[in-house]
Formats: sequence, C-alpha cells, structure tokens
Amino acid sequence: MSVHAQQAENRVTVRSLQAKKQAGDKIVCLTAYDASFAQVLDSSGVDVVLVGDSLGMVVQGNATTLPVTVDDMLYHSRAVARGLNRALLMVDMPYLSYTSPHQALENAGRFMQQAGAQMVKLEGGAEQAGIVSRLTQNGIPVCAHLGLQPQRVHKLGGYRVQGRDEAAAEAMLNEARELEDAGADMMLLECVPKPLADIITGALEVPVIGIGAGGGCDGQILVLYDILGISKGRIPKFSRNFLSDAGTIEGAVRSYVEAVKTGQFPGSEHVFS
Ligand code: KIV
Repeated sequence: MSVHAQQAENRVTVRSLQAKKQAGDKIVCLTAYDASFAQVLDSSGVDVVLVGDSLGMVVQGNATTLPVTVDDMLYHSRAVARGLNRALLMVDMPYLSYTSPHQALENAGRFMQQAGAQMVKLEGGAEQAGIVSRLTQNGIPVCAHLGLQPQRVHKLGGYRVQGRDEAAAEAMLNEARELEDAGADMMLLECVPKPLADIITGALEVPVIGIGAGGGCDGQILVLYDILGISKGRIPKFSRNFLSDAGTIEGAVRSYVEAVKTGQFPGSEHVFS
C-alpha cells in the first residue's frame, strides 16, 4: 500500500467520529495554530485539531475574536495542515465571514480548497440552518457551535454560561435539533450546564463536543494555550493546566488525551450546573 493510501486509511473522518459516538469512545479535540504544535497533537492521539478563531486572542493578543479575518484563518490553517497526518482538520469561520449562504460557501470553500480543511465550524443557532444546509449540500462538513458564542460577546454582554433557565435550555435543544436536521455533522457546546449538555448529547445522532459542558458529551475540546498554562490572564474554570504535572509539552498533550479518553477530564470542578 502506498504511503498516501496508508495515511488516508488512518485518517480521522466524519464517519469515524460518528462511529466513536456510537461505540461510546470519547473524541479528543484541541486547538492549534501552527505546524509544530499540530504535529505534536497529531502524534499524541488528538482526533480533531481546530484552528480556532481563538487565535485572535492567544496568538494575536486581541481582547476578542472579532478582528480575525479569513486571510488570518487561511494562513494558520495551511500551517496546521502541514503538521497533520491523522487528525481531522477543522477550521473556524471567523466573524462576519458567513453572513449569507453565498458568502459562507465562498469562504468555507477557500478553507477546503486552499488550506486542506475537512470541516468548518460556525457559531449560531437556528438562524444558521440555511447556511449549514448550503455548505453540507456542497460537500463541506459543518460543526455547529451553540452555547457561549464568543463572536457575539458584545451582544451577550460578556463571556457567560448559556442555557441556564428553562426557556433558554429548551430553545437550545430545539436549535441543536434544527441544525442537525439542516445537515450539521457535529455540534460544539460551549459553557452550557452539564444537565442540558447531557440532554442535547442524548438527543442528537451527530457527535457533541463540549467545552465547559461536562463529561457527558461525546468528546472534549480545549484551547491549547490554556492546557499549557500560557494564555494571557486567568485560565477558564472549565480548563486545566496539564503542563504543570507532565513537565513537557508532548507529555501535557498526551495526558490531556488520556484524561479525556478515560473520563477523568472534565472533573466536577470544571463543570457548570
Ligand atoms: O476558537 C476556538 O478556539 C473555539 C474553541 C473555544 C472551541 O471555538
């Protein structure tokens, strides 16, 4: 078998992520922004590497993700793609890059064609269903992002837990179902109470990945710089510094992978009720 065929065989895909959900195997995801870190994540067993627009904060030093452009995402995604052999490459659609189905298709198409993306992620609820269906109808896998949506930080009035009251919880569950019906291949829940995240995970057929959403989700994602303890400011309640015990970057990533796979992370201290 050729090296290319072998690589393709081992590659994480939308289908293998779906199979993991069905088998009850946890999906491990982490952000990366360059080839060197991407290579460490890939060889340490991370399943999905997200080029997050969090790069606007942790790499560029901005206060929010809003200044990040499509060109910024392309630059970092191409670099990350060069470091990956196995993990699935997911790329964030940055702020205002998907305000219509036409614009979303044009920009997501650039991530697929020019940066090697295998999935794009976009923030928003049922109002994004038309965009999700346009992308997926054109062969672009989509991860929908519900709960805390950092691109709406000014509208939300800060980085806050979402879906706390009954009406908001019910609305989020309905939106998750609508996005799945529109064709979303994966769902990400950020800063959502664990009981609600558990209900959404059980209700959807596609894998649900949590960040600050508890250990009942099908998988977990964190920001790489948070698990290495090098993000500016306070580490979020839902994250953990894995470097302090592990001592090396590769050790930290491997211990995160192990902790997610065995259900040791997130612990009760990382969860919102
Ligand atoms: O941009 C990002 O890194 C993200 C994660 C917080 C999930 O969306």
